[in-house]
Amino acid sequence: MTIAWIVGRTPRSARVPPDPLFAQAQQAGTRIRFLCIGLLVFAATSLHAETGYSAWLRYAVKSTQPVPAVVASTGDSALIGSAQAELIRGVLAMTGRALRIESGVPEESALVLSTLDKLPAQWNLHAGLLETDGYWLKTVTSGATRYTVIAAPNDRGVLYGAFAFLRKMALGESIAELDERHSPAAPIRWVNQWDNLDGSIERGYGGRSIFWENGHARADLSRAADYGRILASVGINGCAIDNVNADLRILTPETIADAARIADAFRPWGVQVLISVDFGSPQSIGGLETFDPLDPNVAAWWNAKADEVYRAIPDLAGFIVKADSEGRAGPSTYGRTHADAANVIARALKPHGGRVAYRGFVYDHHMDWQNLKNDRARAAYDNFKPLDGQFDDNVIIQIKNGPIDFQVREPASPLFGALEKTNKAIELQITQEYTGQARHMVYLVPMWKDALDFDMRIHDRATPVKRLVTGFVGVANAGLADNWSGNHLSQANLYGFGRLAWNPDLTSRQIADEWTRLTFGDVPAITAMQLSSWRTYENYTGPLGLQTLTDITGNHYGVNVEASERNGWGQWHRADKDGVGMDRTEATGTGYIGQYSSAVARMFESLATCPDDLLLFLHHVPYTYKLHSGKTVIQSIYDSHYEGAEMVEGYVRAWKSLRSRVDDRRYGEILAQLEYQAGQAEVWRDAVSNWFLRESGIPDAKGRVGHYPGRFEAESMQLLGYEVKDVSPWEAASGGKAVECPTSRCTAELHFNGAPGRYAIRVQYFDLNDGVSHFRVTLGNQTIDEWDANDRLPTQKVDGSSSTRRTIPAVALRAGDEIRIEGAPDGGEKAAIDYIELLPSN
Ligand code: GCU
Repeated sequence: MTIAWIVGRTPRSARVPPDPLFAQAQQAGTRIRFLCIGLLVFAATSLHAETGYSAWLRYAVKSTQPVPAVVASTGDSALIGSAQAELIRGVLAMTGRALRIESGVPEESALVLSTLDKLPAQWNLHAGLLETDGYWLKTVTSGATRYTVIAAPNDRGVLYGAFAFLRKMALGESIAELDERHSPAAPIRWVNQWDNLDGSIERGYGGRSIFWENGHARADLSRAADYGRILASVGINGCAIDNVNADLRILTPETIADAARIADAFRPWGVQVLISVDFGSPQSIGGLETFDPLDPNVAAWWNAKADEVYRAIPDLAGFIVKADSEGRAGPSTYGRTHADAANVIARALKPHGGRVAYRGFVYDHHMDWQNLKNDRARAAYDNFKPLDGQFDDNVIIQIKNGPIDFQVREPASPLFGALEKTNKAIELQITQEYTGQARHMVYLVPMWKDALDFDMRIHDRATPVKRLVTGFVGVANAGLADNWSGNHLSQANLYGFGRLAWNPDLTSRQIADEWTRLTFGDVPAITAMQLSSWRTYENYTGPLGLQTLTDITGNHYGVNVEASERNGWGQWHRADKDGVGMDRTEATGTGYIGQYSSAVARMFESLATCPDDLLLFLHHVPYTYKLHSGKTVIQSIYDSHYEGAEMVEGYVRAWKSLRSRVDDRRYGEILAQLEYQAGQAEVWRDAVSNWFLRESGIPDAKGRVGHYPGRFEAESMQLLGYEVKDVSPWEAASGGKAVECPTSRCTAELHFNGAPGRYAIRVQYFDLNDGVSHFRVTLGNQTIDEWDANDRLPTQKVDGSSSTRRTIPAVALRAGDEIRIEGAPDGGEKAAIDYIELLPSN
């Protein structure tokens, strides 16, 4: 699958050949060079194959709006330099005009970049009207002179204003008579990268780390600088540069020096570095006998360490701490509280203006699954609610949007409502760990809006989550992939995160529409696909609050319905032969629902008012229970899986209709990705619906589940060399079995005896990541297709993650034809086949 491989691969070189648009131009000395490069780019844009590296900063629209000939600035900081360079670059790309640089407020019409305090008083632009990082776009006329002023209380706000101005131009909005003020909803707008010092990224699907390799910061950090620019363009002002599962070496002098280099790369873009630290550090690297947060030596160690780090990185935003969670060191070792733990570090950072982001993701992963009162969803509240009011003011509790772990749907975490005297940030996951990774199109903004808009009804007043938090944190995990995320369409999630962190009142549609227009142009079909994609993914993975029914102890990607059960991780859905769902009611269940305000608890507790989408997250019901929609639970599970899979087939058709609207490279890569996703959606559909059919014994009223016209199981074909194997989990393969080739070459053969005509031949096979098998399909003596199984799928097993398909379109078949598949294994990959399908072509 050559094309699909291109989509998923990690580039071999650490440095993607830079999009010429990314030439750095912050320094005054580079301005001339920049203008020359820019002119060339402007001339060549239409020939330029798009890699996705520019993300939404393509400036590809040709604008005829009048723009002054001059850009002037009243300051000369690196941030103002970035703003100026960006304006020059954007205006040049969109209009072909190279702005002349002046300093101060010139006598002629100009774009003026300035902090508010440096503007002429008679312009009446007052700082008090804006929050830090906010900006004002204002047209000021003085006689015949027109100034387009981009002003802000601080330099970073000026930079944001420059990006906003260019965004307006790129979206075709008028820049003629401007007077708009924008302030961010929250001061904390951070991404967390889960990058390891060895260059791998935990739950990263866009290639290796842009920061680290072999235990050190990369020699070339220009991609980090380019990432800083992308983050700044949507108002993100902080980035954690190492995994929350922190490497102990992060606080050693050598690595602090490395982190300082990364901070240098980010600084011109106003992105402050955060460092994830291990709570056990005073002992593990400090040589103390203890890491007890109440021990004065420990406090002294943190103080000294903070001083050392701030000497290297004076504008560090702070530390992130994951303690007592998933095996990490924590205060429980000494019987201390999370407040003790957070505060000892917070006090060390305080003199430097730093913060501690202390993660609320604390739970016991060795819970007794047989105890029906146990409930992981309760954990964050149970751990943190009693400590409300005990955290220092530079501590912020970083709370995942839902109470479990970035599942395809969860209710908003009750902790947002429960902590009334503590700073809170919402943690959202951009990287799509449980939502299709870099392989499925899932636009997450509607999911995030669900959590942000959820009204906690604290003290019976309207208290949506977005008004309870002062921070937005997105787990981003961008990597060295040409397009940063491994999937062009996933960039919409990074864009959407930034836009929401700035203004959570924007709608999902507004954000998707902006992103599409900036990234692809005026192609509303892309917005429409994105907007339905979360529901689609939910439909074919885990609807009704079942959570993503994936391999929760492994790669979190392919289907595995029972992986969540009978273990201590606590992601239980408790499906059995009679019913399904976690009883979290106060009346008979775990009592989780009681962690919400009484108004919310009442709504969730009663089956009459509990939303269908969360039913099985909150209640255990029989399969025959009727939803508000009127369908039974079991029929709804079947129907939604079929609807989801059909939607993805529809995306493929919709995408094909855009052939002339998108450049070749992105068109081809996205087509391959959507075709792959369509195949995966069917794997999910069949697996989940067959699992529930077997468990419940209740057939699909529409007769689809278990009946697959045109499908021929490999194990029933005439096999030469191939051996039949049971697949685990059984639902990941059609009929629970596959065939594997133990020698160097095997064949599976089928005699066609259907009606003559044209058929699409689909070969469902398993593409593991420890070998590149070769497949060949022959019809009679003629080879009709062959390919290497070289996609990058996250498994070395024959299972739901490796199951994939190849479609050979419109093959003319006559009765008696022999269709033969030859498989040649490689390495650990045994050229395994699940089935073939012959589907009449239109
Ligand atoms: C998930 C994820 C882990 C991560 C953890 C966290 O469980 O799978 O890789 O470490 O979340 O948020 O800390």
